[in-house]
Amino acid sequence: MTQIKTIASKPFSDQRPGTSGLRKKVLVFQQPHYLENFVQATFNALGGVKDKQIAVGGDGRFYNLEALQIIIRMAAANGIKKIMVGRNGILSTPAASCIIRKYKLDGGFILSASHNPGGPDGDFGIKFNTTNGGPAPEKVTEKIYQESLSLTSYLSLDNPDIDLDHNAAFTVGDMQVEVFDPVGDYADLMAEIFDFDLLAELMQDPNFSFCFDAMHAVTGPYADEIFVNRLKAPLSSLLNCTPKPDFGGGHPDPNLKYAADLVKIMFADKAPVFGAASDGDGDRNMVLGDNFFVNPSDSVAIIAANAHLIKGYKNGLKGLARSMPTSCALDAVAEDLGIDCFETPTGWKFFGNLLDAGRLSICGEESFGTSSDHVREKDGLWAVLCWLNLLAAKKMSVRDIVNEHWQKFGRNVYSRHDYEEVDSDIAHEIVDDLKKRLSKLKGCKFGPLEIAQADDFSYLDPIDGSLSENQGLRLLFKDSSRIILRLSGTGTSGATLRLYFEKVEKESTQMNLDAQTALAPLIELAEKLTSLKKLTSRSEPTVIT
Ligand code: G1P
Ligand code: ZN
Repeated sequence: MTQIKTIASKPFSDQRPGTSGLRKKVLVFQQPHYLENFVQATFNALGGVKDKQIAVGGDGRFYNLEALQIIIRMAAANGIKKIMVGRNGILSTPAASCIIRKYKLDGGFILSASHNPGGPDGDFGIKFNTTNGGPAPEKVTEKIYQESLSLTSYLSLDNPDIDLDHNAAFTVGDMQVEVFDPVGDYADLMAEIFDFDLLAELMQDPNFSFCFDAMHAVTGPYADEIFVNRLKAPLSSLLNCTPKPDFGGGHPDPNLKYAADLVKIMFADKAPVFGAASDGDGDRNMVLGDNFFVNPSDSVAIIAANAHLIKGYKNGLKGLARSMPTSCALDAVAEDLGIDCFETPTGWKFFGNLLDAGRLSICGEESFGTSSDHVREKDGLWAVLCWLNLLAAKKMSVRDIVNEHWQKFGRNVYSRHDYEEVDSDIAHEIVDDLKKRLSKLKGCKFGPLEIAQADDFSYLDPIDGSLSENQGLRLLFKDSSRIILRLSGTGTSGATLRLYFEKVEKESTQMNLDAQTALAPLIELAEKLTSLKKLTSRSEPTVIT
């Protein structure tokens, strides 16, 4: 039997998982023992992993393969019974969730820094998902952090790197290893939810055209299997579908700034009918029509309002949920359907309990995240398939589907302004300063805008009673407008400040106004109340969505 080794280490003080796992620069993860400590802290936090079964894979970014080999050795040394490893180290976040659920595993590691850039100078990340297939809840991530603070050794064993290029089954020490196709099970799940014949018919329609941009990230092989092999879309529909360790030098975040290749195609003359992109690890989505951007907050609301047209949801929805900064467009749909709409803090982990309790069918975040109870993660390709399904069933353009929705429910005009890589002390000061003034802001009038409520959002989980505080500063106005300010929990250099603006427009002639113009009074007021631009010496946000 291979000798198990106890390797001496020392604690690192910076291993508290953020909004979505532990994310750091690659250089930080490459320090001796850094990744190993976090993996051991996770195993310890779970109370040991003897005889457990887990999955592991990642988004293909730089350091993915090295990290996988380290985890496989440590898993064997810690007594894991079986590990399922995505072939070539690939496993998208929603596919990992699907695999953990389908094979009833005890959990899994996803190696990804999501939409953050990759490469030797880029970011790396690791996240543990529990047996429901969802991100570990806060009580688990906090335990991992506490373990990491006192960790002085970890377990590993001597074993050469294993071959990850082919499907295979073998052992490392006493642990069974299965290298498996990361795409097949996920594609099968999509075929259960969607009517693939209907979607294949759409792909053959001479009036239809489609462009999917995988941004050189993990969804390339998934898009190939689902869109080309199963739905018979022409290969020319796929853009940047070969995963690269540095994402081709790009920033794998599907938004109007970073999905530049797709945006150029979709905002040109003779643009395709439908365009979409996904991020580094395949959980985000951006949806575009011919010269038209669908705001993610609208997208989830429109999917929910039309879910009866999708095979997997034709029997109705149990409930809906959105993160707090996401626009309230979804609430209007829930009201219309006569079902609950939950408001949770930012981060997918907060949907888990509601999904597990059967209280929720479709949920989403403004940050290009949408999904349902089919997995416990957001799911980029699922959202794209939802839109293909709506286009096939409604026989309308993307723009007309969105307009139809606005005419019925009103438009929640919405925008997010990100200020990235801000000096951390200044960013915290800005938030703390507004926080101190919140209690005095209630009732204050600024022209036609009157603040009805000003608070720091906290969430009492209705399922397990856990309380999550300090989840973002909210200014709620009498006319249902909102300004929200929060600090990002996923950045790796300096701090990222996010400002969210929302205004409800019911006047049908005003629906198509440019969002920045319609929101200008709120944007100006936010500056007046925070002096954010002045204090950070920025003339404009880094990214506007
Ligand atoms: C961001 C998004 C959030 C999302 C998370 C992980 O977190 O805002 O909605 O769940 O990435 O993809 P933040 O950086 O704002 O903490
Ligand atoms: Zn992601």
